[in-house]
Amino acid sequence: MKIQLFYGTETGNSEMLCEDIEAEFGSDHEITVTNLAEVTPGEMDLGTFAVLVCSSYGDGELPASAQPFAEALEKDGTDLTGLNFAIFGLGDSDYDTFGQGSEQLAEMLVKHGAEQVGPRVIHDAQGDELAEDMAFPWFAERVSEAEALADAA
Ligand SMILES: Cc1cc2nc3c(=O)[nH]c(=O)nc-3n(C[C@H](O)[C@H](O)[C@H](O)COP(=O)(O)O)c2cc1C
Repeated sequence: MKIQLFYGTETGNSEMLCEDIEAEFGSDHEITVTNLAEVTPGEMDLGTFAVLVCSSYGDGELPASAQPFAEALEKDGTDLTGLNFAIFGLGDSDYDTFGQGSEQLAEMLVKHGAEQVGPRVIHDAQGDELAEDMAFPWFAERVSEAEALADAA
């Protein structure tokens, strides 16, 4: 299946996780990895499955690399109807605003017509588990769901 991985990051963790996902699943699927800073909402390929990995910064805000994308989406009002996406958050439960960056991004995409596949899961930097150990099974489940949706369409 064609999968577009997008990351929103401040210090590179989300980018590294996308690269790990690509390394793990790239032999089974056609995967591209793109920084959200390098894409406009209008350039998203609505026919593919989008998987976003996004951290939280400041006071539960979007990380720097996701901000221009979010601003463009609000300003241009791009219609994302037909886009299926899943989203994985990176955060730190020391903050009251745990995981709110990915929450904001998910809400924006849905508001503009995209459909969320499966639950948003947030890796907690305070926890013992590695981000990839949470993300790999989560990703595999979301891809199965997206494949079932594509077959049903
Ligand atoms: C200054 C600063 C502010 C942060 N603010 C939040 C926050 O509001 N909520 C949250 O869940 N995590 C917060 N974090 C944790 C980051 O989201 C977490 O470290 C994440 O792994 C960073 O991923 P990135 O390198 O892709 O940006 C913050 C971290 C720093 C250093």
